[in-house]
Amino acid sequence: MWSRVLAAASLLAVCHAATTTVSLARRGSNLDPIAARSRMNIAYFGVIEIGTPAQNFTVCYDTGSSDLWVPSAQCTDIACTTHDQYDPSQSSSSALNDTRQGVPGFEIAYGSGDVVGYVVNDTVQIGSISLANQTFGAALEATSDFAQSSCDGLLGLAFPQIANEAGGSPPFWNMVNRKLLNNNQFSVWLNPNESALNAGEVVFGGINSNRYTGTLNMLNATPHSYWQSALGGLTVGGQNVSTNLTTAVFDTGTSIIVMNTPAAAAINAKIPGATYSKSAGVYTFSNCSLAGKPNVTFVLGGQNYSLAPSGYVLQQTSTSGATACYSAFTGDSGLNTTTILGVPFLRSYFTTYIYNGTTCLPPSTPQGGIPGAQFRVSTEAGSLLYEQVASCFAIGCYQ
Ligand SMILES: *[C@@H]1O[C@H](CO)[C@@H](O)[C@H](O)[C@H]1NC(C)=O
Ligand SMILES: *[C@@H]1O[C@H](CO)[C@@H](O)[C@H](O)[C@H]1NC(C)=O
Ligand SMILES: *[C@@H]1O[C@H](CO)[C@@H](O)[C@H](O)[C@H]1NC(C)=O
Ligand SMILES: *[C@@H]1O[C@H](CO)[C@@H](O)[C@H](O)[C@H]1NC(C)=O
Ligand SMILES: *[C@@H]1O[C@H](CO)[C@@H](O)[C@H](O)[C@H]1NC(C)=O
Ligand SMILES: *[C@@H]1O[C@H](CO)[C@@H](O)[C@H](O)[C@H]1NC(C)=O
Ligand SMILES: *[C@@H]1O[C@H](CO)[C@@H](O)[C@H](O)[C@H]1NC(C)=O
Ligand SMILES: *[C@@H]1O[C@H](CO)[C@@H](O)[C@H](O)[C@H]1NC(C)=O
Ligand SMILES: *[C@@H]1O[C@H](CO)[C@@H](O)[C@H](O)[C@H]1NC(C)=O
Ligand SMILES: *[C@@H]1O[C@H](CO)[C@@H](O)[C@H](O)[C@H]1NC(C)=O
Ligand SMILES: *[C@@H]1O[C@H](CO)[C@@H](O)[C@H](O)[C@H]1NC(C)=O
Ligand SMILES: *[C@@H]1O[C@H](CO)[C@@H](O)[C@H](O)[C@H]1NC(C)=O
Repeated sequence: MWSRVLAAASLLAVCHAATTTVSLARRGSNLDPIAARSRMNIAYFGVIEIGTPAQNFTVCYDTGSSDLWVPSAQCTDIACTTHDQYDPSQSSSSALNDTRQGVPGFEIAYGSGDVVGYVVNDTVQIGSISLANQTFGAALEATSDFAQSSCDGLLGLAFPQIANEAGGSPPFWNMVNRKLLNNNQFSVWLNPNESALNAGEVVFGGINSNRYTGTLNMLNATPHSYWQSALGGLTVGGQNVSTNLTTAVFDTGTSIIVMNTPAAAAINAKIPGATYSKSAGVYTFSNCSLAGKPNVTFVLGGQNYSLAPSGYVLQQTSTSGATACYSAFTGDSGLNTTTILGVPFLRSYFTTYIYNGTTCLPPSTPQGGIPGAQFRVSTEAGSLLYEQVASCFAIGCYQ
């Protein structure tokens, strides 16, 4: 399964032939629909090592943000003390710039909670890739929203343009800048089978072609902020739904599909049995039957991406063991024309995120080709286009 990746590497001797696969675990399926709105509640997580000797942290792999942070040993908030905490004084490779009062500090508001702390450099090991002098955040304060999280911290995979931590690039972008990858891309597979032990994987530097079938459809990721694409339209059961949505963001850190309130109402109105629950803030079903429910289809790059009812009827198991179901399509009054395609979408479609652009150069510099980045979403038919993806032309930026 790795032959394509290895072949590409041998042709490009200038590149280090690194790919690494991080297996992800997942928290159980007893998601409370209110908690499901919080970014950290759905958890596709894996272990990273920080420092020398290694301090281990479980981080959520989040394509919907750009910073790496873990709790600091100095943090006394419950969200920190219930998790592993980073102690730079126990690491011979740490380069500590400041503590709370100094610069650069960092502060991130995720919507579900806030994190504040200092920025530090240390060696970060992700799979087989070691990043010396990786800049990350050590949280001194984290709101209690994070206390229940399966993850100690977050590993953001979106663009550096929306990173909050000054002083260095986020991990994936450091891999790119330091030419550590044989392809400047990472791939995300989330197992559609919720009961399987292997919940998902992130492959840095390549693609696991066992994880999808058919063509990878290219989408332009512009502007460089989130991994986002133009949304061409929306149908439910083959009928157009009129919304003002124009943009789709791909986000492993959101457990539902979120959009402005009227758009969510318009979709759910076409799904038999979906009833708005004011207390839960989601559309619920009186039972979990999938029968008679239509597909909901997003048009991306001219292709139809359908979510079958099994993909959007989400189950919640209460502590008493009762199962209730609700619709993944959720309204949020804070959203304008962007819809966030979270885990229900990414469990249905494989995605790979490719950086082959030159945005670090001054805008006046002729760039050639399609500047920027693309990402691809698998469809069901056709042939693999992977070989056409440019490899290893990372430009040393940010340093
Ligand atoms: C840290 O994680 C690595 C890789 O998962 C593992 O081999 C190692 O034993 C862990 N170390 C500690 C102290 O838990
Ligand atoms: C910490 O960072 C600030 C701002 O970048 C810089 O002025 C200061 O010299 C740095 N301190 C150390 C000890 O590197
Ligand atoms: C980290 O970066 C600083 C400043 O560029 C440098 O002095 C130091 O040697 C680097 N450390 C490692 C381990 O690369
Ligand atoms: C941290 O690393 C960044 C880039 O990796 C470097 O520019 C900066 O000087 C480093 N800071 C310290 C305190 O080593
Ligand atoms: C899902 O995974 C479970 C546990 O491995 C397995 O028993 C079941 O057959 C799988 N279901 C499907 C549809 O593959
Ligand atoms: C998408 O689905 C619509 C019907 O809902 C159909 O008319 C259209 O041809 C499909 N587009 C593609 C590219 O398959
Ligand atoms: C649905 O919307 C598409 C794209 O806007 C349009 O081409 C098509 O004619 C519409 N179909 C119906 C039945 O309104
Ligand atoms: C499940 O809910 C649907 C829609 O509300 C209803 O039509 C159906 O009869 C229900 N099925 C059962 C088994 O209760
Ligand atoms: C619904 O979508 C699934 C893919 O998620 C597809 O396999 C199925 O054929 C679609 N059904 C209809 C009626 O379009
Ligand atoms: C889209 O709809 C939302 C919700 O009604 C509204 O707040 C927003 O202003 C609309 N945006 C545009 C560009 O029409
Ligand atoms: C929604 O977006 C439109 C177009 O970008 C903008 O004009 C409008 O002010 C935005 N509305 C809100 C509530 O942010
Ligand atoms: C980026 O990749 C796309 C798709 O393979 C290709 O068309 C484009 O030319 C590449 N851009 C550069 C600058 O190589």
